Amino acid sequence: MNQKINIGLFGYGVVGESLYHVLKHSKTVDAGVSKICVKQKDKKRSLAENQFTFNKEDIIDDRDINLVVELIDDAEEAYDIVKRCLQNNKSVVSGNKKMLAHHLDELIDLQEKTDASLLYDASACGSIPIIRNIEEYYDNDLLKSVTGILNGSSNYILSKIFNEGLGYETALKQAQDLGFAESNPSLDVDGLDSLYKLIIIATHALGTFVLPDQVFNYGISNLKESDVQFAREKNFKIKLVAQLIKLDDESFTMFVIPRLVRPDKYIYNVEDEYNGVVIQGEFYDKQFMFGKGAGGFPTGSAVLSDITARSHNYKYEYKKQKYFKKLEYRTDHEIEIYLRYKNIVDFSYFEFENISEKYTGPDHNYVVGKIKLDNLLKIRSILSKLDVFLAYIRN
Ligand SMILES: NC(=O)c1ccc[n+]([C@@H]2O[C@H](COP(=O)([O-])OP(=O)(O)OC[C@H]3O[C@@H](n4cnc5c(N)ncnc54)[C@H](OP(=O)(O)O)[C@@H]3O)[C@@H](O)[C@H]2O)c1
Repeated sequence: MNQKINIGLFGYGVVGESLYHVLKHSKTVDAGVSKICVKQKDKKRSLAENQFTFNKEDIIDDRDINLVVELIDDAEEAYDIVKRCLQNNKSVVSGNKKMLAHHLDELIDLQEKTDASLLYDASACGSIPIIRNIEEYYDNDLLKSVTGILNGSSNYILSKIFNEGLGYETALKQAQDLGFAESNPSLDVDGLDSLYKLIIIATHALGTFVLPDQVFNYGISNLKESDVQFAREKNFKIKLVAQLIKLDDESFTMFVIPRLVRPDKYIYNVEDEYNGVVIQGEFYDKQFMFGKGAGGFPTGSAVLSDITARSHNYKYEYKKQKYFKKLEYRTDHEIEIYLRYKNIVDFSYFEFENISEKYTGPDHNYVVGKIKLDNLLKIRSILSKLDVFLAYIRN
């Protein structure tokens, strides 16, 4: 049954403002924005002043608001807003992957105790409807892995490097000028944004929530010309890839790492700010979803989809969590990596299980070999300070 939706909107930035316009264009959902809460009092807005408030209680305590849409860029504040809304029996739509990746287990528990619903399809892969798809269609035990390019900014940078021969710094500057990358791009290029999305996807795909600091993530900020040359010579492209793998009936693993990708892979052709997700399972083999992973209007469209779903009283059911045997998250999984390094001290941090290829040159050295995720997790905090680059390689 459709219900009239009175929205209290938190945030009127890139996504919040786009959602406002997307909503105006949508004739299928009976929804309107009653109030908008923002932070800066002296900022120029495209709407009349009386539409805005700077006090979050004006939305949280308003009994006429039956849906809160949270689109702010402050994860801790977002957590407080979402938690208090659910406690007040108010449903919430959120796009905040960082907040969800840190608090999803608690928020799921809270939601279960109320009639309210928490929806967040926009938080992972922008306009690609990955979460609801996984929740509804892959609600069985056939799913074996999810592999994806989940961050548009780093993919844009890598596309410019590989397709147009730009250097890393120039490509990054271009991504920032076009609004794809943050002015502090670390979230994107160091793989954290992809990690947060992977954690949300894993909660639905396999039913187990894992905190971000337990998962290995490594990005592209140490990429150098010699790594690009290595990839080109072997007919690979480098992509920043997030992956979860069901190892057996009892366990799974996941990680975010640059990957040397062969031309016969679906994600090889995912370029620029686009995202692409491959879902692999028993019997159906591989399925591929592709689309814009970021940007105001693509993300605003995903938020609209959640608002519409809520107007039909939709809730995620977390079937894998409720009805399936809980899978154990493991980090003793071995992966094959390419490691470029300059000095032996940096190399000594890596405890390879075996090495299949070695190169020693005047400017740099590299090895290809197998290593356990446990070892990479142990040295994660110092990795960005070493003069090395690593990438997942699988021939
Ligand atoms: N941009 C994308 O493509 C994209 C894609 C998927 C998900 N998301 C997620 O969507 C959310 C919003 O992203 P965005 O790109 O729209 O951010 P943004 O352009 O930086 O806008 C952030 C908005 O949040 C408001 N805000 C910050 N702290 C607040 C507080 N304490 N109380 C009330 N309002 C507050 C800001 O207010 P002022 O206007 O007063 O500064 C601003 O309107 C983030 O969680 C992001 O991760 C973004």
